[in-house]
Amino acid sequence: MTDRPATMRLIRFDGAGGPEVIRLDEAATPAPAPGKALIEVVAYGVNRPDCIQRTGAYPPPPGESDVPGLEIAGRVIALGEGCDRLNPDLKVGDEVCALVGSGGYAEYALADAGLCLPKPRALDLVTAAGAPETFFTVYDNVFTRGRLARGETLLVHGGSSGIGSTAIQLARHFGATVIATAGSREKCDFCRSLGADHAIDYRTQDFVEEVRRITDKRGVDVILDMVGGPYIAKNISLLALEGRLVQIAFLQGPMAKDLNFTPVMVKRLTLTGSTLRPRTLAQKTAIALALREKVWPLLDAGAVKPLVHKIFPMEETRQAHELMESSAHLGKILVVTGR
Ligand SMILES: NC(=O)c1ccc[n+]([C@@H]2O[C@H](COP(=O)([O-])OP(=O)(O)OC[C@H]3O[C@@H](n4cnc5c(N)ncnc54)[C@H](OP(=O)(O)O)[C@@H]3O)[C@@H](O)[C@H]2O)c1
Repeated sequence: MTDRPATMRLIRFDGAGGPEVIRLDEAATPAPAPGKALIEVVAYGVNRPDCIQRTGAYPPPPGESDVPGLEIAGRVIALGEGCDRLNPDLKVGDEVCALVGSGGYAEYALADAGLCLPKPRALDLVTAAGAPETFFTVYDNVFTRGRLARGETLLVHGGSSGIGSTAIQLARHFGATVIATAGSREKCDFCRSLGADHAIDYRTQDFVEEVRRITDKRGVDVILDMVGGPYIAKNISLLALEGRLVQIAFLQGPMAKDLNFTPVMVKRLTLTGSTLRPRTLAQKTAIALALREKVWPLLDAGAVKPLVHKIFPMEETRQAHELMESSAHLGKILVVTGR
């Protein structure tokens, strides 16, 4: 084991509220624990679920701490008992990125050994911090739950988000046609630069009409949606026969007014969705193994990557949240700890 200091810096939320509740604090550095790797965190990713947690609407699941942060990259400085069985490749000194259930906004964090993945060869360690949350979420939702196959068409809403930018790249690499929606011309250009075949500025164009035109009224096979609300009925109307709607968030609320379910029956649709954080360790480990096999070679080769919009120092985590909630960013927002 490498030396670890007795205390470390971390971020806390002082109650629920706006970015002003974000506070830099100090606490004891975690000790190695069974099945967990102790990571010296070089950078952590900021994700929209962190902002929602901060407002009080997305509390950490049982067993997780209230220290925010779902993804990190850094160096393994100690391995708890049993890590060798859970992830035989993992060694002290390795540079890794990891999905964590909480505690990522800190200089040191514990990560389940099975959820540590090697830093992709084509990425620096800071950029690698932007990979776990979106690659786990997109792979599981678009390809496993949504069963997107080569030759099919994916519609991804919020195409310029961290999630959307990953979905566009992966779907293209696995042979799908991609239609993205986004909230400005600049965001649409960004989606196209990532490989989207079509990008629709939903503020100036009716995305339902546009998707019908693009697909010659056939509709799309899979929709990845984070908006909900008024999009639910529109999405159902845009699915082709045997289409799949995968819901990963409700930025405009979970309620659908006067929803007609007839198309679900007539078009034999699948409505599904998931949240990553409360999944069991076994389920998350299975996603990690699938990523390692199918997606890590693409990241290693630089064929897909987290698109980094801005990197903040740890003291400016508040500004990082403000930027995310302004929705002015393209891709990922990261924070470096200075370690
Ligand atoms: N289910 C899961 O397991 C899971 C895991 C991770 C993330 N998520 C969810 O996935 C979404 C994207 O996460 P992220 O970290 O990639 O966030 P992000 O980069 O902040 O992207 C969110 C995007 O949604 C759009 N948006 C924001 N507010 C909106 C509103 N009220 N109505 C419609 N669109 C809005 C914005 O793009 P435009 O300007 O184009 O509108 C924004 O860029 C979030 O909702 C997050 O909670 C779910």
